[in-house]
Amino acid sequence: MKYSYIAKSLAKHVASGFKLPYMVMFETTLMCNEYCEYCIFGEEGKFNDLKTRAERERIFKRIREMAEMGIFALSFSGGEPLLNPNTSDYIARAADLGLWTSMPTNGLLIKKYADGVARLDMLEVSIDSLNRQRFAKRRGLDGLPTILENLEFVLKRRRPFTTQINAAVNLENLDDLPELAEFCRQRNLVLHPEAVHNVMRAGELLPDFELHGAQIDRVELGLRNLRTAYPKNVRFYTHYYEFYRNGGFGPKFPCRHPSKLVSMKPDGSIHLPCAFMTLFQSQAPLEEIFESEPAKKIIAQEETLWDFCKGCKIGCPYEVSAFTNSPALAIESGLNFLRII
Ligand SMILES: C[S@@+](CC[C@H](N)C(=O)[O-])C[C@H]1O[C@@H](n2cnc3c(N)ncnc32)[C@H](O)[C@@H]1O
Repeated sequence: MKYSYIAKSLAKHVASGFKLPYMVMFETTLMCNEYCEYCIFGEEGKFNDLKTRAERERIFKRIREMAEMGIFALSFSGGEPLLNPNTSDYIARAADLGLWTSMPTNGLLIKKYADGVARLDMLEVSIDSLNRQRFAKRRGLDGLPTILENLEFVLKRRRPFTTQINAAVNLENLDDLPELAEFCRQRNLVLHPEAVHNVMRAGELLPDFELHGAQIDRVELGLRNLRTAYPKNVRFYTHYYEFYRNGGFGPKFPCRHPSKLVSMKPDGSIHLPCAFMTLFQSQAPLEEIFESEPAKKIIAQEETLWDFCKGCKIGCPYEVSAFTNSPALAIESGLNFLRII
């Protein structure tokens, strides 16, 4: 992240009346090498996203377009983002230009791509539990020892509190979190627990993994207690649990993914309204897309939502919507961020 870049971008956002998107979620591949029981991905080869040289150049061009448009943050996601052999180079390019970069990863390949990983403003490694058997059951792979070894390796090149452990939480692993929080405290890491929710993709829905009623209360209370015990290390939005209880996105708390979080697919195409449902897609330049009539029409509809949005509780759209829907939540997240830096 470069402060001169942030200042220039801020000027663009002010000039646009804060109409511009501020973040891109780039799914570098839809394939994954873990098989998490609650996740929609995890079938290697199911999504056949071919890598070509032309595609690599197209992504570099896209990153330039993001910088020109004043996008603040670029998140590399997936599938498993490091299964795309170019991801490390994309991170370096975005960092050179000054964008704030982050990447959730299962950690299986972070040692192999340690140079790229070292450039990330925020590295997020997904570890639900330090119990090897429970980890294997949940994540569909007995990979914990390798991931922990890889993590210790890359941490030598990362500053305190710039590495986050993502834990998808339900009642099965709630009691494992204190051990994980202590692990984070000893290494100056952030623990970001997120309640397991259902994930939909283009109409395809997994079996119901959602928390209901008293289960949500137990998870929320457990996390609040954990944050009290580890105030520097545990970070989550308490409001998320109210949102979850209220059934996720709805007219009172609309999803801002279409206007604020750009979805980019492995081939560089931009998808609207979100990463999980496509009504419009384009390979045109980024600014041109957001000035086009089809995109404007979709964005105008975000206030009223689509039927497929109802009940969605996915974390990244929630976060961008929290900033946008509520100044109080924007301030809370800002304070949260500052407290741990
Ligand atoms: C979809 S993964 C993509 C990146 C990478 N493969 C990883 O494991 O981090 C991003 C994050 O979403 C979390 N996740 C996936 N499905 C989830 C669900 N149903 N509920 C809550 N979190 C989930 C994962 O644990 C991971 O931290």
